[in-house]
Amino acid sequence: MFSRFSRRHFAKMAGLSTLGIAAATARTASKPKPVTDRHAPARFPDDFLWGTATSAYQIEGAVNEDGRGPSIWDRFSHTPGKIADHSTADRANDHYHRYKEDVGLIRDLGAKAYRFSIAWPRVFPEGTGAPNPRGLDFYDRLLDELLANGIEPFATLYHWDLPQSLQDRFGGWQSADTAKAFADYAGHVAGRLSDRIRNFFTINETGRFVYFGYGSGIDAPGLQLPQGALNQVHHNVALAHGLAVQTIRAKGRAGTRVGPAENIAACLPAIDTPDNIRAAEIATRELNAGFLNVILEGKYTEAFLAYAGKDAPKYTAEELKIIGSPIDFLGLNIYAPQSYVVASDRAPGFEVLPIPASFPHMSSEWLRIGPEAAYWVPRLAAKVWNVDTIYISENGTSSIDQLTPDGKVYDLDRIMYLRNYLAQLQRATAEGVPVRGYFLWSLMDNFEWIFGFEKRFGLYHVDFDTQVRTAKLSASFYRDVVARNAIGA
Ligand code: BG6
Repeated sequence: MFSRFSRRHFAKMAGLSTLGIAAATARTASKPKPVTDRHAPARFPDDFLWGTATSAYQIEGAVNEDGRGPSIWDRFSHTPGKIADHSTADRANDHYHRYKEDVGLIRDLGAKAYRFSIAWPRVFPEGTGAPNPRGLDFYDRLLDELLANGIEPFATLYHWDLPQSLQDRFGGWQSADTAKAFADYAGHVAGRLSDRIRNFFTINETGRFVYFGYGSGIDAPGLQLPQGALNQVHHNVALAHGLAVQTIRAKGRAGTRVGPAENIAACLPAIDTPDNIRAAEIATRELNAGFLNVILEGKYTEAFLAYAGKDAPKYTAEELKIIGSPIDFLGLNIYAPQSYVVASDRAPGFEVLPIPASFPHMSSEWLRIGPEAAYWVPRLAAKVWNVDTIYISENGTSSIDQLTPDGKVYDLDRIMYLRNYLAQLQRATAEGVPVRGYFLWSLMDNFEWIFGFEKRFGLYHVDFDTQVRTAKLSASFYRDVVARNAIGA
């Protein structure tokens, strides 16, 4: 029995008994108020929108049904050695056939919004040309089911499943032709579905798919382009966003709202001093210069262009105007702090500190635990770009979820993560930072890109053999937050 205790345990016990004595002494001196009177739940604004998120390739399956064309992720996941567990998303969650059950899962959480993505290769199997007549039928059915359950749809138009044909014909996002094709597709979808979709996200996480897909080659299409070509890819994606904003406005119903869903480079003050907070504002602008800043300001920053030098993207003034088309909201995917910064005398005024090897992370190694990102990132974004409507378009965590023999998943680490991030988000809303809603990634476990089915991010556990969905403990946690519109009790 004694061997189970370490020296650390003994030290702790000794400390506790010392505290016990101190507390007893204090009790005799004054009568503290009962603890329960001092606590109150931290409420979110009354109209705060609670939701969950998924994306088409990660859950739909049915990759060869109803005229869908191949995407770069079909090609990539079928290439040996690209996916950790050698899986593909050919079947994934079979959501294409089980969408009614899955909408029921959202309803059971009490969530009132759902962010999903539309698969471009279902709508235009070749990326351009004649639309597939059956392409939008699935989304028609899904939308009707969502609305019948009182759930507001938020549709993402591009969550990385580029039609393979565009990659083959134009080099994908290496060409402005792909940007034009995206705008046509966006306009077509808005024309058909904006009677039921009032909010469109254009593009999900340029910061991820450009660098990983065209830079390091880790993601589809697996290219390793030099910096200049990579900057041009980024520019073409920004152009696609701007063109799509315009076609959605032209073809969608009046009042249709549009914005990006970006994994903003999350810059945080290392220590909260006024100087460091100012430095974090500068860093937010500069470290997001290649996408968010150019779409929100309609120009590349001087520091970005100076740093890029001969590798700077080629563009026209007219393109910058398109890229800077006004948006209705800013979607921020916030998982982990990227850069902790301090003030610096050297231009442009900030220094990024090295992250220590011991910095804690969740089950995914990239997912550093920094709940204060949920406070600082929207606060700084609202200030730097003067935006009045922000959605947290993704936040959540992987966890090593295991079904116990009694059929439960006790994902206490996910609850810990969510509780802390949401507490920081509430702090932001309480201070007036204009965050209007939150989409938890993810509704259910799904195909996690290069990790295959090895990483689980869902509130619902999915058995990918039987397709049985099981609510994890975190689903109860989230249901409670949504029901009370508050964190804490
Ligand atoms: C976001 C993506 O980057 O993070 C999601 O928008 C993705 O599609 C999630 O599933 C987790 O990323 P990963 O790389 O761990 O699967």
